Amino acid sequence: MNRKVFVTHELPGCRIHELSEHCDVNVWLGPGLLPAKSLHEELAGCQGLVCLLTDRIDRDLLDAMPDLEFVSSMAVGVDHVDVAALTARGIPLGHTPGVLTDTTADTTFALLLAAARRISEADRFVRQGEWRRENRWSPDFFTGKDVSGATLGIVGLGEIGQAVARRAAAFGMEVVGWNRSPKDVPGVEQLSLAALLARSDFVSVHVALTPDTRCLLGAAEIAAMKPGAVLVNTARGGIVDEPALAAALASGALYAAGVDVFAEEPVPVDNPLLALPNVVLAPHIGSATTRTRARMADMAAANAIAALQGQPMPHCANPEVYTR
Ligand code: GLV
Repeated sequence: MNRKVFVTHELPGCRIHELSEHCDVNVWLGPGLLPAKSLHEELAGCQGLVCLLTDRIDRDLLDAMPDLEFVSSMAVGVDHVDVAALTARGIPLGHTPGVLTDTTADTTFALLLAAARRISEADRFVRQGEWRRENRWSPDFFTGKDVSGATLGIVGLGEIGQAVARRAAAFGMEVVGWNRSPKDVPGVEQLSLAALLARSDFVSVHVALTPDTRCLLGAAEIAAMKPGAVLVNTARGGIVDEPALAAALASGALYAAGVDVFAEEPVPVDNPLLALPNVVLAPHIGSATTRTRARMADMAAANAIAALQGQPMPHCANPEVYTR
């Protein structure tokens, strides 16, 4: 009998179409995101799951799925999955490292520049007709903050953090960095987190969300940032304390922020960050280019096909399942 694989969303790329050569495929077609209850219903009796970062794969779900043999997620971050619970059951978890590094670093820089130079505010001003209504242009009109010559502090010097460092150097920034385990990165001065926060005009977050990094930038760390600094987060919500960030932005302690990721997604409309003019917002689109998303989907499909063929996944987040 063919094995069954549930895919929680239509995927781009071409390799996903090969999946049906190896198993019976059932794809959730929406509308909207797959509700958790439907994931429970649709996954019952399946051997494989191909999912997105919006699907929560927790212990309760796994307990109810004794037939599950693999999970392949179209994301590099695996905080939506209880990895330890999968590993305990010997289930490999596929993910998509590498292909989204430059795309996400570009998004980071787009938010950094937009926040520094007030691009969203200026866009609203033009779009809403205020420029014409006020008939104004002056030397201090929409003045922002210089990027060149400023110091960028990179929190987390993995692949994406390093790609951001390269961009920053090209923009004439001084780059300092912090990593949990010290890492020698050319052109990046290593500092303690406290020293980085005190010295940086811009701070960009690039650590994975784990129990250790949850609220890494809490109220105390935000209060310790250089007055007038800009914070950019394209990593994960939950790493930055959102109410503390909103309060610092509202009081003027911080100049601006660029935020692509939120503690709760889709972000509730009453999140205080949404009410602030000096925050550039995006809906978790760090890796969102057509090419990169197709590559990520192809990697997710390749991981699933390898698992169906009884081979190790080429990109496995818990490779220890293969050596036990
Ligand atoms: C995006 O946030 C990813 O983890 O792929």
